[in-house]
Amino acid sequence: MTGVNEIRSAFLEYFGKNGHAIVPSSPLVPRNDPTLMFTNAGMVQFKNVFTGHETRDYVRAVTSQKCVRAGGKHNDLDNVGYTARHHTFFEMLGNFSFGDYFKDVAIELAWNLITKEFGLDPKRLLITVYKEDDQAFDIWKKLTGFPDERIIRIGTSDNFWQMGDTGPCGPCSEIFFDHGEHIPGGPPGSPDEDGDRFIEIWNLVFMQYEQVTPGERVDLPRPSIDTGMGLERIAAVLQGTHDNYETDLFRALIAASVDLTNVEATGEHKASHRVIADHLRAVSFLIADGVLPANDGRGYVLRRIMRRAMRHAHLLGATEPLMHRLVPALMRQMAEAYPELSRANALITETLKLEETKFRTTLIKGLGLLSEASSDLGKGDVFSGDVAFKLYDTYGFPLDLTEDALRTRGIAVDHAAFNAAMEQQKAEARKAWKGSGEAATETVWFEVRDKVGATEFLGYDTEAAEGEILSLIKDGKPVKTLKAGDEAQIILNQTPFYGESGGQVGDTGVIRGPKGAVFRVTDTQKRLSDLFVHFGTVESGAFKTGEPVSLEVDHARRTATRANHSATHLLHEALRQVLGTHVAQKGSLVAPERLRFDFSHPKPMTADEIREVERRANEIVVQNVPVETRLMALDDAMESGAMALFGEKYGDEVRVVSMGYTPGDASESVGKKANKAWSVELCGGTHAKRTGDIGLIKVVGESASAAGVRRIEALTSDGARAYLASQDERLREAAAMLRTRPEEVLDRVRALLEEKKQLERQLSDAKRQAALGGSGASDTGSGSAVRTVGDVKLLARTVEGLNPKDLRGLIDDGKKQVGSGVVAVVGVTEDGKAGIAVGVTGDLTDTYSAVDLVRVGAEALGGKGGGGRPDMAQAGGPDGSKAADAIKAIEARLAG
Ligand code: ALA
Repeated sequence: MTGVNEIRSAFLEYFGKNGHAIVPSSPLVPRNDPTLMFTNAGMVQFKNVFTGHETRDYVRAVTSQKCVRAGGKHNDLDNVGYTARHHTFFEMLGNFSFGDYFKDVAIELAWNLITKEFGLDPKRLLITVYKEDDQAFDIWKKLTGFPDERIIRIGTSDNFWQMGDTGPCGPCSEIFFDHGEHIPGGPPGSPDEDGDRFIEIWNLVFMQYEQVTPGERVDLPRPSIDTGMGLERIAAVLQGTHDNYETDLFRALIAASVDLTNVEATGEHKASHRVIADHLRAVSFLIADGVLPANDGRGYVLRRIMRRAMRHAHLLGATEPLMHRLVPALMRQMAEAYPELSRANALITETLKLEETKFRTTLIKGLGLLSEASSDLGKGDVFSGDVAFKLYDTYGFPLDLTEDALRTRGIAVDHAAFNAAMEQQKAEARKAWKGSGEAATETVWFEVRDKVGATEFLGYDTEAAEGEILSLIKDGKPVKTLKAGDEAQIILNQTPFYGESGGQVGDTGVIRGPKGAVFRVTDTQKRLSDLFVHFGTVESGAFKTGEPVSLEVDHARRTATRANHSATHLLHEALRQVLGTHVAQKGSLVAPERLRFDFSHPKPMTADEIREVERRANEIVVQNVPVETRLMALDDAMESGAMALFGEKYGDEVRVVSMGYTPGDASESVGKKANKAWSVELCGGTHAKRTGDIGLIKVVGESASAAGVRRIEALTSDGARAYLASQDERLREAAAMLRTRPEEVLDRVRALLEEKKQLERQLSDAKRQAALGGSGASDTGSGSAVRTVGDVKLLARTVEGLNPKDLRGLIDDGKKQVGSGVVAVVGVTEDGKAGIAVGVTGDLTDTYSAVDLVRVGAEALGGKGGGGRPDMAQAGGPDGSKAADAIKAIEARLAG
């Protein structure tokens, strides 16, 4: 017998040997299709390669693709557990040719694999072809020698494969396995074809067309091949069972749940164990690919699957959360083939535990209500839609959980009444909005939100994706189309663009529509908390609602923003360590070019403190450990010491971002003991993948932001390096000017300052000398500073560049010089202001007052006042250019 893991490897190796590139599975959340909820076939990741929009460096590929069919168009959820072959999660094995080989090679490769490598008996095989496909019919006939009745022509859509309403498509040919007469069912195309006897194991699609719109089909650039074989089905066939749940992989998972619940997988409990095994795979793979439980979109599908499994765990009598304890069994079976599973091990385990712990109480209460409300009902009856809605609204029962619970008793649920109750609740919410007094310009968002629902954010995992335009807003009103030059807002079903929140700025980038249409996104904002609004301008072409568009975030800008956001967390923790736990975040700005962080702290930080904060934060940068994100219950997150913002509104579940380990204690690295991470913070922002991506943190500013609140500004990565490089450059320039080496600049500057002080002192002395010397020169006649006004001697001078404090000395000297008389000196400072001093010798103070005279002078200098004693007074004036006028005014007063 061959195990599931060996069959998968054998398939990949077989096509690998035949010239196919072995390509990893793409994520369950499609990056390249706006309409698809989950990847549901192997060809999804190659959609654009088939249509020629994208090229790869190979033309043949083989994959084992993770697929989910739950929610959205393909929904197998209701049947899972009760049939032999329905799954929410399955693996699709497929080989692909992109314009390389076509029908003949594809058919031959398939035939050889299943008959020679896998050793299936041709007698147990049957083929179908599309009714008009003579070519395929002939190839099969020649290869197998089957009689016509074993190459069945089918005219229905069963043999024409389409990815969806649009996309690559073509006729297909299917290989069926006959599980034997003991199982009821007829061959394909017969009235009882739905029985379990003849099972399709492999679908070969001859990709020839592209459905561009529902009404328009064009040829693909080159005919191609897309095939799909469910791994679970072929494993069942090769392991001699017709039941997928009897294969080795499922047996192992079911054995684990039997072991933990102590309930055998037989009778009424068989379905529950199967549901648990199937759902364990779906939820674990979804979480590993970035989907987390939510109340709408993909996250709600995940929640529905989880809760459905939890009810079955309850049916098995589990009194403790069960699902997370099954994760190790899943890891043993599947983590080798899908390493993303082991990378997300902790996230999967904790998310399951959290959801199950939270849901248990309402599950039990809700089931009580359900059994009470259905006690009178029997097979064929209909359960109240209102009660189903109450179970949904109050107890968190997804509708399918309620249906599943009533299924074994043959009771249906009144969908119409359920939907009506849902509608009524929405209408009430609308009324509440209308009455909430929001600005009129904003009411448009209520309408849009009501119509299109929350936007799904894909940007934690990807920066490029496709989306569908749900609403266009121009001049505050919804419109159907946008044309070139329009300034507008676009709302999509999903987006990788981050909407401004938590201090992090909104993303910018481009939205591309059909026929070369380009919308330049200049900002992304969130409205009503979960509606992402893309602001920008149509650069070319036109956009219509309902159209698919491709979205691309400005990668460089986002990368820089992520580094800054992670650095903000590191600085926050470092500040608390260095300054104390009174440090609380008061605001932040995380932009691509810088970060700003405001925090409570009563006084300016010292240079040493700043250096220490930088050093500690950079220590974590250098650890280069992964930045871990987990979803936790708010209470648990707070208990684990996560930093939250006071006054911020958080939901029950929060994203928790952890980084680094305490230096010197590598055993406590993140992931192993996430609660002990160096920095743990509640945060919905986008972060660096590893702390090393931050590169370097440099604090470039520390200032006051408000009373008791300090603000630091910092740069990271390229910005920090550029800053340091420019500082370095300046230092070099300074060194060059000083004709020394950078490391001696400080000594040089110190010496220069000392020299300058001395020179100033000397200069001041010299000026004083010059001032006095000048008065001495009066004796020689010309330029004489001493004149006689009336019968008083006046010694008056203007001295440039004089320090006002030297005025007094000059007056004293001047008085000695004149013996009897008045001395006036105007000192004009370097910056053009003036100081004036007047002295009157003792014999004249009864006649003249120095105070009066200095005021007269000061007035001429544009100043007011002046003070002193009758023999000596001083004043200042703003206008040094009026020095001569001041002296003239004093002279005039003396002349009097
Ligand atoms: N894309 C094809 C399918 O899903 C192979 O069946």
